[in-house]
Amino acid sequence: MSSLAQLDGRHIVLGVTGSIAAYKAASLVRLYKKAGAEVRVLMTKSAEQFIPALTLGTLADHTVHSEIFPEHDSDSWTAHVSLGLWADLFVIAPATAQTVAKLAHGFSDNMLTATALSARCPILVCPAMDLDMYQHPATQANFERLRSFGYEVMPADYGALASGLEGQGRLPEPEAIAARTAARISEVDSEVDSEVNADTSAQSALSREEGDGAPSGTTGPFYGKHVLVTAGPTEEPIDPVRMLTNPSTGTMGFALAEAVAAQGATVTLVSGPTHLDTPSGVTRVDVRTAAAMNEAVQARRNTADVVFMAAAVADYTPAHPSDSKKKKTEGTQTLTLKRTPDILKTLGEHKRDGQVLVGFALETDDARANAQDKRTRKNLDWIVLNKATDPGSGFGTGTNACTLFGPNGYESQIATAPKRDVAVSIVAQVARHTPALQPAPTS
Ligand code: C5P
Repeated sequence: MSSLAQLDGRHIVLGVTGSIAAYKAASLVRLYKKAGAEVRVLMTKSAEQFIPALTLGTLADHTVHSEIFPEHDSDSWTAHVSLGLWADLFVIAPATAQTVAKLAHGFSDNMLTATALSARCPILVCPAMDLDMYQHPATQANFERLRSFGYEVMPADYGALASGLEGQGRLPEPEAIAARTAARISEVDSEVDSEVNADTSAQSALSREEGDGAPSGTTGPFYGKHVLVTAGPTEEPIDPVRMLTNPSTGTMGFALAEAVAAQGATVTLVSGPTHLDTPSGVTRVDVRTAAAMNEAVQARRNTADVVFMAAAVADYTPAHPSDSKKKKTEGTQTLTLKRTPDILKTLGEHKRDGQVLVGFALETDDARANAQDKRTRKNLDWIVLNKATDPGSGFGTGTNACTLFGPNGYESQIATAPKRDVAVSIVAQVARHTPALQPAPTS
């Protein structure tokens, strides 16, 4: 069965706004129609600068609207209301910063925005804009506002932008939007089903609370994949009251677990000691030492499709930890240390065909060369380089800046951003460049 099968016979209103990515709307309409959906297209006037209404109207097999006031003899001035009631889902792709701002503040100055206000169905907003517009606090606040209304905002993709810059702001590919549309429709269907069957609904809510690791999205590049993430520091006991550790808070690994769960993965998070809450839908395994983390990870290596090894694992552990508190003595003390297992290197040595390994490197000197060397030496697909000397990067900061090295010489910079955004970017780039994580072709 095609992944778009849920679209058969469904009513989709597609809003198209004035972005260079508007050309992708033509492919999106085709995908919807091919999957058996009925489509009505609404365009803003500026969208028509990028793609003719005739193109989208011909593909949709229906007249395109842009003004609230009747444009055709057959139109009613209440078309925005009837379309809002007719739709099973209203998708806005591409959504410019301008339309996002209008939607966030209840404007109804064209057919698209008026229909959004009238719609009783779920709304999926797919922004596309230049990276600085995307990152601007006004735009980010507007996304949050839309989410607070119950709209879904699909994160923009990373990559080359029309401006010549590189970063987050690309409209996701039509296949990804169509897959998300189908998934949203089936989520809505199951919400309706569970209202009918309250017992079933209560049961599934309970199992989610218990953290059964069920994927939170029913589609996405990681749907059906088991992803193992490690996070946080390890603690290596010297005696019952002393230990060797490091300042890792676990924030980056937890953000990765959250980001990959949102893309449909079944996620196991092996965490060293942290104060962080477990992201929803993620199964957490708590460990303390490098040895315990190694055991937890190696036990899962045969079932993991992707591993993000973000934990700051201690390289050395006391060779002879004491069961009782060591007494203070005058003069110096010598502590004999032994190497911990290199968890990631062991994973690399046992890597299965198609398994994807992502490591992290925190470097101070010769950062690039060391990170690339680590990628090869540990048999990794990807390595994320943090320079400990960069402000706003590394341990204990809420932000991160890194360089991502991948297969075939792939290299990309991720500018300083909150760790959650950096995690979304890493996950998106890994997904885009991993053949096994590409959306299934639609028939
Ligand atoms: O060699 P280095 O410690 O710099 O490598 C960093 C990467 O290796 C990180 O992904 C870290 O989680 C992982 N690592 C590991 N086991 C160790 C030390 C590091 O898996 N003992």
